[in-house]
Amino acid sequence: MSEPIIFGQPQFGEEEVELVSRTLRSTWIGQGPLVEEFERKLGAAVWADHVAAVGSCTAALELSLLALGIGAGAEVIAPAMTFVATVNAIESTGASTVLADVDPATLLMTPDAARRLITGRTRALMPVSFAGRPLDLTGFLELADERDLYIIEDAAHSVGGVADGQPIGAGRHPRLVTCFSFYPNKNLASAEGGAVTATDPAVTDRIRSLRLHGLNADAWGRYRDRAYKPTLATALGRKANWTDLQAAVALPQLAKLEGFLAAREHLAECYDRHLAGVPKLELFDRPPPSVRQRHALHLYQVRVAGGERDALIAKLRADGIGAAVHYPAIHHHPFYEHLARDDLGESDRAALEVLSLPMHPGMVERHIVRVAEAIAQSLG
Ligand SMILES: Cc1ncc(COP(=O)(O)O)c(C=O)c1O
Repeated sequence: MSEPIIFGQPQFGEEEVELVSRTLRSTWIGQGPLVEEFERKLGAAVWADHVAAVGSCTAALELSLLALGIGAGAEVIAPAMTFVATVNAIESTGASTVLADVDPATLLMTPDAARRLITGRTRALMPVSFAGRPLDLTGFLELADERDLYIIEDAAHSVGGVADGQPIGAGRHPRLVTCFSFYPNKNLASAEGGAVTATDPAVTDRIRSLRLHGLNADAWGRYRDRAYKPTLATALGRKANWTDLQAAVALPQLAKLEGFLAAREHLAECYDRHLAGVPKLELFDRPPPSVRQRHALHLYQVRVAGGERDALIAKLRADGIGAAVHYPAIHHHPFYEHLARDDLGESDRAALEVLSLPMHPGMVERHIVRVAEAIAQSLG
């Protein structure tokens, strides 16, 4: 068999190895100065003054809702085409999820689709910049102002992207909160991790406490301040803090993010070229990268109509090519069957037709050619 092509593989170098070793030798591996340094540097990179790093994007979403006072009795609108974590975060707070269908051309929830589902109980919209594709944030923020709502962007796929001329995560509006993931296969990898960026410092201040049991100080703060102060719970928090050991992996990754994105853009252009004209395959349009819009290209997805998607994935995997499905629609999970509605047809269709092809900055054009040949052979 030819060389396997892994679906998503983090790229680590000596920088990560060196900082992880230095952190281990320091013995301060829990939440501490490297988490703070990462929060500062991520904020500078995405134009956000207020950043709180947490243990995962799932935690970032849940803690954002809690910090905004959203829980039992509230409704949150989220797309039906997303990872189950988006909805798990909503439901863990006691709030109810209302699913919106996605636009078939982008797989995104649109402000119009969300608008139709707003009720007197809606407190927030949780759109997902799916695959790394920028959302119509201007449209969402206008709707948020008009209907007194928060926008919590699930940007698990989108660190490095640009929407409306500003980096995804920019502190551009007091009603906007953005949540990132640093899961190992994401654009910026660590051994798990997430972050919240916000315009309103009250949100990230609350998250700093909620991420550590609702306490009024963390271990690093107590160590640094020296003077004794009692550490007391001021809210029902979670155990969702991040650690210096994880930040030691993520800090060098943040420095390399631009290079990783450029590599992803090159690979996506290669896919576009080599897959053009393959029968039965539909490619998604992407705006060319510019200062106004930049797709973060976490996923390169294609559509195969006619019920042939799963056979294609099986064939690619048999050839050592790690194709994957992102995702079953939320209401296709047995636990969320009760959220199904008749007007989620585009999410139903995407869940059966869309697949994601291998994409990580360690790949080169030769890999793309092999994937494209295997697809053409299987569908031809
Ligand atoms: C759209 C989306 N949201 C949230 C998450 C959860 O991220 P994490 O694994 O960092 O909790 C993921 C993870 O893949 C995701 O794809």
